Amino acid sequence: MPIDDLTAFGPDFAWGAATSAYQVEGAVDEDGRAPSIWDAFCRVPGAIAGGDTGDVACDHYHRWPEDVALMSALGLNAYRFSIAWPRVLPDGGGPVNRAGLAFYDRLVDALLEAGIMPHPTLYHWDLPQALQDRGGWPARDTAERFGEYAAVVAGALGDRVKSWSTLNEPICAAWLGHLQGVMAPGVADVRQAVPASFHLMLAHGLGAQAVRAAVPDARIGVVNLLTDCEPATGREEDAAAAAREDGHHNRWWLDPIHGRGLPADMIEVYGVEPPVRAGDLETIAAPLDWLGVNYYRRSVNVDDPAGPPPRTRQVTPDGTPLTGMGWEIHPDRLERILVRVHEEYAPRSVMVTENGAAYTDTVTPEGAVHDPERTAYLEAHLAACAAAARRGVPMDGYFAWSLMDNFEWAYGYAQRFGLVHVDFATQRRTVKDSGHRYAEIIRAHRALAAGPVASGH
Ligand code: IFM
Repeated sequence: MPIDDLTAFGPDFAWGAATSAYQVEGAVDEDGRAPSIWDAFCRVPGAIAGGDTGDVACDHYHRWPEDVALMSALGLNAYRFSIAWPRVLPDGGGPVNRAGLAFYDRLVDALLEAGIMPHPTLYHWDLPQALQDRGGWPARDTAERFGEYAAVVAGALGDRVKSWSTLNEPICAAWLGHLQGVMAPGVADVRQAVPASFHLMLAHGLGAQAVRAAVPDARIGVVNLLTDCEPATGREEDAAAAAREDGHHNRWWLDPIHGRGLPADMIEVYGVEPPVRAGDLETIAAPLDWLGVNYYRRSVNVDDPAGPPPRTRQVTPDGTPLTGMGWEIHPDRLERILVRVHEEYAPRSVMVTENGAAYTDTVTPEGAVHDPERTAYLEAHLAACAAAARRGVPMDGYFAWSLMDNFEWAYGYAQRFGLVHVDFATQRRTVKDSGHRYAEIIRAHRALAAGPVASGH
């Protein structure tokens, strides 16, 4: 990435890294935390590669001081993490577990002391199992309980935390968890998936209201996983499949929060009417301060008439470079998505809240981790953010996924996304070359931002 591209980023640009509670914290039965749907899903035989679980993960619950020190060493000014609902409200609602909340209190204080802005997400997939037992996301009550949970957390941390995200990638909780069944709670039924998706959006709206009420100067956003969809061939059927995939992956989530309601064409594709009640769409569409875009890869589609809705299948064309997950590398599509959301939805501010690549990394005998592919991925995607900013997108931040190697859901610990390597046997952390390069870019931007060329929007 040409270093002068950094002038596209304003002086207050958030340079961050992201994690999520279940993927890093461990300590699943400490200080009153109750099980989540992921604790249960990890016990389903064959659900997780290698039979791995998040029981210990990166032991961040105990090692957070070391991890905050690592963030400081990298020069980050922002950290995106998630709050574990079952730590704060073990039963999903009702009595607050003060010991669980205290963990985030300590973390927030330490971050602020280190000059790192906390960017918590209230829900990154770890629904309290108690709520799953009462119906989970297909039940409206779960959305209402989320509003209460958001009020509790915002009330406790809102004096210091100003940037809030309600949900991370509701698409995965809804479609991977309830339509494909490859994530918790492992359901594959469109009749449950559609209400689950709707109640996640409703939870976002209720959560945003609760945070707004508790923290008047909060900056509230939501984080969606977006992709650029295209047909695999020139066939009409594949073009239609790509359009359906775009509806399923992007519009289903972006339209309602921007006041456009639920896409009617997709309701027809699903064949299930979402359980909308009077006033819900207004709740979901309450104005936001920023939009979070998670981007990893593009999506190339073929028609799949026999498959579950939206009856598309993703393919990987020969010859494209792939990450260790087998995901295509296309930084130009990140620029395209950022420009698209700006032109079609006009969010006030945009942050890339996740972006990164998994590879198999090893620590050399000298204690280094050479990861040139990840470094190239990082630079190319930062260049895409800069290009989008130059085209008028109000870019305010970039968060690398992930700060450190962690529990990659159904892939267990086999896929490493971190800027920092974690040896899971010893919990030893080693900054990878990509982490050092990120730190260098941040330093370069800081030097530019202090000079006369700094721009902003
Ligand atoms: O690890 C996940 C994260 O939890 C959500 N976004 C995608 C990442 C990589 O798969």
